[in-house]
Amino acid sequence: MLIAGNWKMNGDPRDLSEFTRMVARAPEVRSAVALVVCPPAVMLQKSVERATVSPLTVGAQDCHFAASGAHTGDLSAEMIASCGAEYVIVGHSERRTDHGETDEIVSRKALAAQRAGLTAIVCIGETEAQRDAGEADQVVTSQLNGSIADAVDPGRLVIAYEPVWAIGTGRTPSTADVAAIHGSIRRWLDDRFGTVAGVPVLYGGSVKPGNAHELLAVENVDGALVGGASLKADDFIAIALAATAVLEARA
Ligand code: PGA
Repeated sequence: MLIAGNWKMNGDPRDLSEFTRMVARAPEVRSAVALVVCPPAVMLQKSVERATVSPLTVGAQDCHFAASGAHTGDLSAEMIASCGAEYVIVGHSERRTDHGETDEIVSRKALAAQRAGLTAIVCIGETEAQRDAGEADQVVTSQLNGSIADAVDPGRLVIAYEPVWAIGTGRTPSTADVAAIHGSIRRWLDDRFGTVAGVPVLYGGSVKPGNAHELLAVENVDGALVGGASLKADDFIAIALAATAVLEARA
């Protein structure tokens, strides 16, 4: 299982107290549950330093697909890797919406992440209108087709299924709906990379300590991408402990 926290544009680089508390509590979580925290880029370096010799690793929230060049305000995957980060989220719905990122751009970013030695967490998910129209499955499949290039290394790939309407809203799909979409994502991955590839598929969207166990226990859910609840160490660790409990129940 993988529990990843996406801090979005939250946090203060002068105050690493919550992050430090996460690092301190990380050993409580079973080692089969990997922990990744993705703070804003200005906190990457310090966070990596704070997490040395910790099981918790650090990721970024976006990268450019070029290694360097005239791209004002952007960061390359190489720069992120040189901070000591190991993951980068690409194609989050907020980037797709706020910055007009297409599947094609996301696909190039995922390749760039891997070129730099990072693991790419590629986000996909339908809007509410698409779900209401019965198109969720089609949308997710088309995002996978467009965002995951043939050259992608499945060993450095994570998929995060995040229904847009569940992000930051307190609403979540039913466990049956999560099972259905994760099942089709798994089949897509098996077709592309073979059944042994083991690409983790995370669920994201309003994951909280109170619903984490239920969501993580769904078949083909290999972890969570957590926004709001990843800002507080106690909530983030509670979600990771729910993952531990699910693994223990499966064993
Ligand atoms: P949320 O965000 O947990 O606050 O809903 C999830 C995400 O956007 O990754």
